[in-house]
Amino acid sequence: MTQINMAEDIKNAADKIIDAHRFDKMQLIGILHDLQAHQRWLPREVLEYLAEKLDLPINQIYHVATFFKAFYLKPRGKHTCTVCLGTACHVRGAPKLLENLERNLNIKAGETTPDLMFSLEAVNCVGACALGPVVICDGEYHGHMTNIKTDRLLRQVKAKDKEENKAKELVEA
Ligand code: FES
Repeated sequence: MTQINMAEDIKNAADKIIDAHRFDKMQLIGILHDLQAHQRWLPREVLEYLAEKLDLPINQIYHVATFFKAFYLKPRGKHTCTVCLGTACHVRGAPKLLENLERNLNIKAGETTPDLMFSLEAVNCVGACALGPVVICDGEYHGHMTNIKTDRLLRQVKAKDKEENKAKELVEA
């Protein structure tokens, strides 16, 4: 058995998830999904641990994790902003929205801020063309977006985080 370096809390969470799926190799996708939900991404050591626990080759786990776009092998931000660059959104100014967000967050599409607060994505058509240009933030659709509205949205997300952190500090004090 190889020695895998993992924080204790991550290992405990992984154990619970694997156990909940009864160590069933057939549930690999569901296990990966639950593991990712815990950390927002799938670190290498977690995949190695899973391979060991399920007695599966690590290559097979990587194959599945890289096949599905829903799995992330790099750290993700707490919040995800997605700009639709499909044709309907594109002609209504979506590229300008993306540029503005890239400038604002100081990252490019496909990247995550170093403080792990935001991930920025660009996709092609999210099926809400009539609302274009569309920005999706943490799963919530925002239509007819402009740079001003996008800036406001970012400020709201940051302000909400601040409030939550304050409340957390008060509870822990
Ligand atoms: S092109 Fe943006 S939702 Fe369809």
